[in-house]
Amino acid sequence: MESIVARNRADLVKARGDGPVVLVPTMGALHDGHRALIREGRALGVRLVVSIFVNPLQFAPTEDFSRYPRTFEADLDVCRAEGVDVVFAPSVEDMYRPDRQVAITSGHMGTIVEGASRPGHFDGMLTVVLKLFNLVQPDIACFGQKDAQQLAMIRRMVTDLDLPIDVVGVPTVRETDGLALSSRNRYLSADERQVALALSRALFAGAVEPTPEKVRAAALSVLGAAAPELVLDYLALVDPATFEEVGDGYHGDAILAVAARVGATRLIDNAILRL
Ligand code: PAJ
Repeated sequence: MESIVARNRADLVKARGDGPVVLVPTMGALHDGHRALIREGRALGVRLVVSIFVNPLQFAPTEDFSRYPRTFEADLDVCRAEGVDVVFAPSVEDMYRPDRQVAITSGHMGTIVEGASRPGHFDGMLTVVLKLFNLVQPDIACFGQKDAQQLAMIRRMVTDLDLPIDVVGVPTVRETDGLALSSRNRYLSADERQVALALSRALFAGAVEPTPEKVRAAALSVLGAAAPELVLDYLALVDPATFEEVGDGYHGDAILAVAARVGATRLIDNAILRL
C-alpha cells in the first residue's frame, strides 16, 4: 500500500483528513520495536500517522544529534509494508521557527533518574510531542515501554494539560538474547553488543527477587560482574507513575530502570515488576 509522505505542515493537514487518527511518533531508524508500535496503532482500525523527526531539542550539545542514524528510505519501506497511511517527516526548519520562545518544562519528574543524566532532555521531548499532538491532532498515540520515563512523562503531560488523547503503552521488544531493540544498537561492535547484554540480564535477575533491597542487589551483582567497557550510569527501582525511588517496605508495581555506557554508546532499559 502507498503511504502518503507529508514533508511539511500544509501537506500534513491535507493527508490527515477529518476522521479519527492514531499517531506513532518516532525519530526514524525504524526497527522491530517501532514496528510493534505501528502494528498496535494499525490494529486500532483508524487512520495511522507515523511521524519521523529527529528532534534537536531533546539532544544536549554533547549528545549524538548530528550522528543519530537517519535511514529515511528504509523507514518509508517499513511504513509502506506495515500499511501506514501517512508518514509525517517535517524538516527542523518547518518544526521550529527561529524566533520561537515558549516550550514545555517537565517539572521535577524531568530532573530525576534519566532526567538527572540528561538535563533538558525531557523538556525537549515533551515540547516536540506536544507540537506533534497539535499538528496531527490524534485521538490516540502509541509509545514504547522501552522509554518508561518518557511514557510516564507523556501521561503526566496529557493529564496536567488536559490533552484529549488516549496514550497507549506498548511492551518492549527484545532480541532473542534479551537485548532491547534500540536505534543506537547499530553503534555497538560485536564485542560491545555482548557486553551490553548485562543490562537486560541485570533486569531479569532483579525482577525475580521479592523485595526492593534484593532486587537492587541482584541487578547490581550482574552489572558489577560485567566487562569494564560497561560503565553504569544508574540503576533505579522506582514508582512507575512518579519515577521516585521506592523504599524498602514498598509493595506494588515498580520499574527497575538501568542506564549504562558501553564504549561510546549510551543504552537504557527497564523491566516492570510487582513487589
Ligand atoms: P524513538 O527513540 O525513535 O522511539 C520511538 C518510539 O518507539 C518510542 O515510543 C519508543 O519508546 C519506542 N521504542 C523504541 N524502542 C522500542 C522497543 N525495543 N520496544 C518497544 N518500543 C520501542 O522516543 C523517541 O523516538 C522520541 O523521544 C519521540 C517520542 C519520537 C519524541 O521525539
